[in-house]
Order: sequence, then structure tokens, then C-alpha cells
Amino acid sequence: MICRVCGGPLTEFFDFGRQPLSDAFLTADDLDRQFFFRLAVGACESCTMVQLVEEVARDRMFHDAYPYLSSGSSAMRRHFEETAQFLTDGELGGPDPFIVEIGCNDGVMLKTIGKAGIRHLGVEPSGGVARMARAEGVRVRTDFFEEASATRVLGEEGPADVIYAANTICHIPYLDSVFRGVDALLKTDGVFVFEDPYFGDIVERNTFDQIYDEHFFFFTVRSVQAMAERMGFELVDVRRLPVHGGEVRYTIARAGRRRPSERVAAMVEEEAGRGLAAPATLARFGANIESIRHDLVELLQDLRAQGKRVIGYGATAKSATVTNYCGIGPDLIPFVCDTTPAKHGRLMPGSHIPVRPAEAMSDPYPDYALLFAWNHAEEIMAKEQEFRAAGGRWILYTPDVRIV
Ligand code: SAH
Ligand code: TYD
Ligand code: ZN
Repeated sequence: MICRVCGGPLTEFFDFGRQPLSDAFLTADDLDRQFFFRLAVGACESCTMVQLVEEVARDRMFHDAYPYLSSGSSAMRRHFEETAQFLTDGELGGPDPFIVEIGCNDGVMLKTIGKAGIRHLGVEPSGGVARMARAEGVRVRTDFFEEASATRVLGEEGPADVIYAANTICHIPYLDSVFRGVDALLKTDGVFVFEDPYFGDIVERNTFDQIYDEHFFFFTVRSVQAMAERMGFELVDVRRLPVHGGEVRYTIARAGRRRPSERVAAMVEEEAGRGLAAPATLARFGANIESIRHDLVELLQDLRAQGKRVIGYGATAKSATVTNYCGIGPDLIPFVCDTTPAKHGRLMPGSHIPVRPAEAMSDPYPDYALLFAWNHAEEIMAKEQEFRAAGGRWILYTPDVRIV
């Protein structure tokens, strides 16, 4: 087992066992041809990068029917409007700026950039969501971003001031090729900005369900800094973001072109102080995951024994790890409700729990709802106040199992 970034030795620290593709929502016909792989995570002894031990081929995950829609949450729509404004006011302030977004999905960020009349291009391999972005007036190339496609973009569009990505760089095992592509496409003084779930928050909040097929890397400031250096770049700024349970936005420039902010050194120091990459920390995280499984299964079995009805809320990719690792099936959770049309009438991968529209929740209200979309808790609890008024209670499983 070797590190996908530096080739150093990888030490496995947790094994979730056989897991399905997290976003493969099934029809009855799919049941006998599901794909499974071993979901396990390790840390590089050399550069500290936390990563999956087994890689799933990218075309199995990102294709025309990829169901995830970035615009499905009002809080995330707001976050990306603010991000567009932040880029427009900052790095895109020069004459005739050009921005490329890696993994633009349904255009949640670029539509604001497009409306402002700024030259842009999304590079997005999943055809269905790319079409939705185009319907919003966003220019999209249906492709995986890597060295070859980046070079073609350079030839057709010229160099970029900003290359941006949200919740996508952590999905890409072949980052050497991505960085060569960034090197080809970015102006000399341009920046590569990306934001992804922060491993520091994952460990602190026990959000183990961030670990699934699509999330290949789990970044820390230290590991991203080492990676940038290795690729001929430099990490020049970091900002914490409150979305998706805690993320960090990294700004990377060519080595020596910009003075790194003090925040970079401060976060590297903080990570070292708390021993974020230390074997003892990783072992403690693993032990917490096992306790959550034990407590959650016990709670769901107790509630069933008491004759209570429990449904799931949010057919997230994350929930595939929870249901399959904990062995939660339709016997404990008869259905999960979700707003994504492409998931309705399908079965959740591995667990085969049916997915129903959001309205199914109130028909009639259950006693409890297990909140798989915990990263949207505020938004969801605000809109489901009637559930609580009807006596319903939410079950959360991070940072520990609790009823609220
Ligand atoms: N930026 C959006 C989407 C995140 S989902 C948001 O933050 O909500 C991850 C997206 O990355 C998917 O739409 C997937 O199709 C895309 N993706 C996966 N590999 C990619 C690659 N090599 N280049 C560009 N996009 C990629
Ligand atoms: P999300 O947690 O953003 O991502 P992932 O699939 O990567 O884990 O997914 C949120 C899911 O929850 C998505 O399928 C849409 C659904 N959802 C609702 O059903 N209702 C809501 O109010 C919100 C915000 C999301
Ligand atoms: Zn490494």
C-alpha cells in the first residue's frame, strides 16, 4: 500500500469492510449487479495524507446518471453565491478575467459568475448535472479535469486567472495529473482555490460517514502544504468554512509568487499540537466509530421493540457508509425521504432501503427521524417544525448517538 500523492508507505487505520457505490441508487433490475469494494482508510507515514486504500474507477461513480445536485440545499446555494462574490471582488478583479471550475455540478457557483458577465468554463464529467448547469446559462465541458483536458482548455480558451473547485479535489486520486493540468492552464500569478471537508473536523466531530467511495482524500493543512510543494506550488492561504460539517478553503499559487498568510503556519502548528496525524489520534477516531455503530444499532433495535416508527431523512452518499457499516436495513428504517427526483422510487445502495419524496415524511409523521443529512440540520429542522410539533424527535449519530 503506497500513498497516491508521494509514494510513501500507507498505514491503514480503519476498515469499513465491503461497501457499495454510495451514489448508486438502485432499481429492482440493478439488485444482482451491484458493485462492491473494500472501504478502508490509511495515513501516509511520509507526507501524512489520509486516503482510501482502494480506488474505485472514476467512470463507475461519475457518469451521465450521477444523481447528486449541489443546488439541493438553500444554505449551499447561498454559500456559493457568496463564494462567487468573493472571487469576483478579489482574484477576478482584473481586465477580462477567466475562471475554470473543476466539478461545477449543476452550476450552483458558476451561474452567479455567468450572470456577472465573467468568462468562465466548468469542467464536469457527469453529463446529467452538466446539462442542468447549461440550462442555467453556464458554459460546461463534459470531461474529467486532468492534464490532457486542461491542455485542451488552454488551447481553446487561453490561460485562467483562477481555477476553483469545491468538494471535488478530494474526489480525485490522480492529483499529479490534476496539478500538471493546473500548471499548464493557470496564468503565472493565478491561483488554484479549492475547498473540501477538513480531516481535523471529521476527527473532532466523529463524522466518519464522510468516508465513502467518492471521497478519496481527507485533507489537513499540513498534508495539502506538502502536496503543493511536491507539485511545484505553494499553499499561500487557508480559511475555515462552516459548510458540510467543517471545511477548509485552500489557496495555492506557484512557488515563490505570493507571500503565505500567517494563517497557514498557525493551522499547521495547531494540527501538530493536537497530534492530528498521530497514530493514537487515528486509533481513537476508529474506536469512536465502533462505539457509534454499537449505540446506533442498539437504539434503533430498542425503538423497534417499543413499536416506534423511525424513518431516515436525506438519502445522502454519506448514509451508504452508515447503513452498510452498521447493518441498518428496511427492518429498522422502512424508508428514507429525500428531495432529489432521481433518487425517488429507488433503493439505497447495499441496504436496499427505499427512497421516497420529502412529502412522505408527514404521511403520517413517524416517531423519530434519523438525520442522515446532518450537515443541513439547521435548514431541515427549520422547515420540518411540524414534525416536532407533532411530537417527532430527531436522531443524530455525530459526534455521538443522541435524540434531540
Ligand atoms: N462543486 C459542487 C459539486 C461537488 S460533487 C459542490 O461543491 O457541491 C463532485 C463533483 O465532481 C461531481 O459533480 C463529479 O461529477 C465531479 N468530478 C469528479 N471527478 C472530476 C474530475 N476529474 N474533474 C472534474 N469534475 C470531477
Ligand atoms: P449532502 O449531504 O449534501 O451530500 P452527500 O450526498 O454528498 O452526502 O446531500 C444531501 C441530501 O439530502 C441530498 O440527497 C438532498 C437531501 N436533502 C433533503 O432531502 N432535504 C433538504 O432539505 C436538504 C437540504 C437536502
Ligand atoms: Zn504521502
